Amino acid sequence: MEKLFSRVVGMRCVMVMAVGLSALGMSAVAVGGAGQAESKAGGGLRDAANGKVLIGTAVMAYQLQDPVIGPLVSREFNCLTAENEMKPEAVQREKGVFTFEAGDKLVAFAEAHGMKVVGHNLCWHNQMPRWNWEKDGQPLSREEALANLKAHIDGVAGHYKGKVVGWDVVNEAIDDGPGVGDIGLRNTPALKAIGEDYIAKAFEFAAAADPSAELYYNDYSNESGQKLERTLKLIRSLKKAGVKIDGVGMQGHWMMGWPSTDVIDKAIKAYAAEGVKVMITELDVDVLPRKQGGAEINAVEKGGADPYKEGLTSDMQDKLAKRYGEIFDVLRQNKESITRVTLWGTHDGTSWLNNYPVRGRTNHALLWDREGKEKPAYTAVKKELEEWGK
Ligand code: XIL
Repeated sequence: MEKLFSRVVGMRCVMVMAVGLSALGMSAVAVGGAGQAESKAGGGLRDAANGKVLIGTAVMAYQLQDPVIGPLVSREFNCLTAENEMKPEAVQREKGVFTFEAGDKLVAFAEAHGMKVVGHNLCWHNQMPRWNWEKDGQPLSREEALANLKAHIDGVAGHYKGKVVGWDVVNEAIDDGPGVGDIGLRNTPALKAIGEDYIAKAFEFAAAADPSAELYYNDYSNESGQKLERTLKLIRSLKKAGVKIDGVGMQGHWMMGWPSTDVIDKAIKAYAAEGVKVMITELDVDVLPRKQGGAEINAVEKGGADPYKEGLTSDMQDKLAKRYGEIFDVLRQNKESITRVTLWGTHDGTSWLNNYPVRGRTNHALLWDREGKEKPAYTAVKKELEEWGK
């Protein structure tokens, strides 16, 4: 199942890239020009935030050509994360063959609209080709795997040097179960080939490839319990080893009642106390029933209910607005520590939660409906950001 899911994800990514490449071209410039005027006219979340915090979204380059999504992105946001197109399998599917077209389109759009770009990601156990770590199902030698990791990071962080403000250097390296070693790391193919210090090495390679980029560790469900403690340990161990780490990403794949804002508050304060910046990097609020929270990519579920196929009830719209309002309220209370909040998608039709953890449902996890119309949740977030922006 693990392999199958990763393959499906991979295939979708290639299809998306193909569509993206064919749909792009000069029109990117046209959208850029129009959007710039719109973002100057303002009125979006980015203007509400007034430079106090970056407001980001995850997109795929082809979506920026969409007549609803393109203008929405340039009006509302001032930071882009590539939802898939800068991931290892997108940029170096085959050893030594780098493909930057889609990511470059995203960067061009961002530049045209005065937006920042965050690189996501340089090392992950998913959407990263196995050849980096294995041959014929056996781990490569430490030297070979390290050479692959360095070549990947040199190639990608080198290409985007000066174009991105920061990188999610390592994504999701901490285990949800017992894990490996003192920290309780996920037993990834990278760890099997290199050892526990593959994380430190990735950060070192990234710092060398783009010395001015901020370097982040990014994970889900790292706001409480064991995962929070382990992340704190990891940050301390990297710092102790003299490795540069600038920030921690809390993905923020959250639910209506989980986690509590109190838990979020305590986590932000705990990370800030370690001297790192804190970012909410992939925020969405799942409104559908599911067996477990978080974002373990392989935790695919079957047959979950799909109660809002025809649209979200007004009662649920209000509850979602309240939830988003409370989340942004607690983030604003911690404004000294939070440098960016990124939503994982634009309108509800683009959310990965339509296919995760159950495939093919109708989720309503974001701030705009499928037509790009602002939901009550949008109004709630904007209100908080106006306060934040003062
Ligand atoms: C997801 C994308 O949204 C999907 O399009 C893709 O099929 C799988 O990956 N945590 C992460 C993101 O760090 O990269 C994941 O993005 C969502 C969970």
